[in-house]
Amino acid sequence: MSHTSLFSPFASKSLELDNRIVMAPMTRNFSPGGVPDQAVVDYYRRRAESGVGLIVTEGTVIERPASKNEANIPNIYGEGLAGWAKVVEAVHAAGGKIAPQIWHTGAAFGRNPQWRPTPMDTPSGISLSDEAVGEPMTEADIADTIAAFGRAAGDAKRLGFDAIELHGAHGYLIDEFFWAHTNRRTDVWGGATIGERTRFAVEVLKAARAAVGPDFPIIIRLSQWKGGHWDNKLAADPAEMEAWLQPLVDAGANILHASQRRFWEPEFEGSDLNFAGWAKKVTGVPTITVGSVGLNGEFIAAFGGAASEPQSLDELLRRLDRGDFDLVAVGRAILNDPEWVAKVRDSRHDDLKAFSPAAFATLY
Ligand SMILES: Cc1cc2nc3c(=O)[nH]c(=O)nc-3n(C[C@H](O)[C@H](O)[C@H](O)COP(=O)(O)O)c2cc1C
Repeated sequence: MSHTSLFSPFASKSLELDNRIVMAPMTRNFSPGGVPDQAVVDYYRRRAESGVGLIVTEGTVIERPASKNEANIPNIYGEGLAGWAKVVEAVHAAGGKIAPQIWHTGAAFGRNPQWRPTPMDTPSGISLSDEAVGEPMTEADIADTIAAFGRAAGDAKRLGFDAIELHGAHGYLIDEFFWAHTNRRTDVWGGATIGERTRFAVEVLKAARAAVGPDFPIIIRLSQWKGGHWDNKLAADPAEMEAWLQPLVDAGANILHASQRRFWEPEFEGSDLNFAGWAKKVTGVPTITVGSVGLNGEFIAAFGGAASEPQSLDELLRRLDRGDFDLVAVGRAILNDPEWVAKVRDSRHDDLKAFSPAAFATLY
């Protein structure tokens, strides 16, 4: 199948991309003290050199005492900003475009159980696995967190990033407000419907928009699933999906990044549209799909040690050509092989590598 549509340009606000391939955000834990160093600079530069359309960085956390759940996650405040400035400069020098994924890990635990922030910021003091983790956030905590997201967005623009992505997926803080299981609040930050529970994300988006101005693209990443709750549905049907997503678009989101583990899985019965397909259909804004692009195994299994083989892009291209979504995020295939985009572009299919979880241990 022809790759033409994958290598056609895309534009949103001030962002102009040469192609539709996005490097998916992937936490690497290689930033001691929260500051990206030269190894991180070189890691992103290599992907830009290979022609990735847009790099979305690993999650990088806002200025709150409990915003990260692993020690070596990078910060997007304080000294972390100088490290990110070097990454942006190197990616631009290689002809690439880059957006930081702005993050607060909320009550989702990291891989090291000994390293846990306290007190945790959570809507209702409950972790994804039902553990009591402290007091619900106060009004002051919420206001400070929203302001910190806004500052990070403004700093990202000042550093020269080309867009920002807010991490609103996978059971982290923003998503904990979306999910009734972790958001049991009875004040304005909670509510019985998904529409009501968008309030926190809406205020974060408004703060980010106020900080970056009208022409700078804002992406928000969303998922139905949460860690350990793979079949969860925040939106059970298209009407609920619209009630969830339209307020986010109205508050300033330009692109929705619809996170799935396998992009070909239908979102609702009766249609083969995936999450990105439905997100675009109910809101009309551009969307990014993701999940096992170019590989035959999914990423949670990879954390458990599973390898994957290269897989044809035909089904992905069929959906892209049909207009289901606009951009395609690729995670492990690009983590594993910095030259993945160039190999696909130049039809060097025999050179595509199998994915080995050993790739997680280094930052090449
Ligand atoms: C090592 C690793 C770290 C990840 N870290 C993040 C992250 O910081 N933020 C995020 O939204 N998703 C994260 N993800 C999920 C990826 O962005 C992506 O959605 C997932 O890997 C599926 O894409 P793939 O099948 O192409 O790998 C991570 C995935 C991996 C493998």
